[in-house]
Amino acid sequence: MSEGIGTDEIVVIERPHEHVAIVRLNRPKVLNALSNALVSQLAAAFETLDADGVTRAIVLTGDERAFAAGADIAEFAAEGPRLDEWDRLWATGLPTIAAVRGVALGGGLELAMSCDMMIVADDARLGQPEINLGVMPGAGGTQRLTRALGKTLATEMVLLGREISGREAELHGLANRSVPAERVLPVALELATRLAKQAPAAVRAAKRSIAQAFEQSLHAALLDERQAFHALLQTEDAREGVAAFLGKRKPVWRER
Ligand code: CAA
Repeated sequence: MSEGIGTDEIVVIERPHEHVAIVRLNRPKVLNALSNALVSQLAAAFETLDADGVTRAIVLTGDERAFAAGADIAEFAAEGPRLDEWDRLWATGLPTIAAVRGVALGGGLELAMSCDMMIVADDARLGQPEINLGVMPGAGGTQRLTRALGKTLATEMVLLGREISGREAELHGLANRSVPAERVLPVALELATRLAKQAPAAVRAAKRSIAQAFEQSLHAALLDERQAFHALLQTEDAREGVAAFLGKRKPVWRER
């Protein structure tokens, strides 16, 4: 992992804005195939940013050819993907935006779908081709795709390896926006900058609460939401948000 551009590191962190980090997958020769080392370093990067007290949003991206072409197939024979490492990625409290150009296949699409938002190039290629290797998605594909797209299209993608374009991904609600490839990163950064301007504790709590929609019964999730809301009301930032509204001024968050 490293800060800056022009590096051999397989995960690169750039900081275009004080509170926003770009995390870039950097194995261009193999279309950012997700080797176990890459996933571990990515998880470490997310954990570092989550704990640094400065970062408020992460944009996760690859390059113009590939967000990621899936698990590293060359590693399959020696050792399978260590999928438990993915739990570390999913545990981040920071809001994450996948900025997808080129291919997002297999684990690449699973990685993009595990982000809170997805900005895709119109001509991006999204799919779960594991079936062509005689296996199936193992890092969330059957679950996240089905929840986002519904059973009909998800079944075609997972059982037949059908790909969809970025434009289709937006149409079916898998991506937040589909834009020309050169706009993907600017649009993702603009969203991240807006996220970074919200009260950080409220963003974290709301992110967690949305995730509960997929993990709990409605009743239990509503109770958790209510609890999170009341906890936020006690924060200084909530008092500031209300005072700013009533005083017709912009709030200044103190992260308390
Ligand atoms: N793992 C390892 N290497 C990969 C790779 C992968 N997933 N995807 C591409 N590469 C390598 C290729 O072997 C090639 O290397 P060489 O130049 O050394 O030959 C290089 O990246 C460029 O790839 P191509 O020449 O194939 O490029 P292309 O433009 O002709 O095709 C592609 C692009 C359609 C994405 C094709 O590379 C492809 O089908 N890749 C595999 C996609 C896939 O099946 N992903 C699912 C993996 S399984 C999984 O993801 C399961 C999981 O997480 C749990």
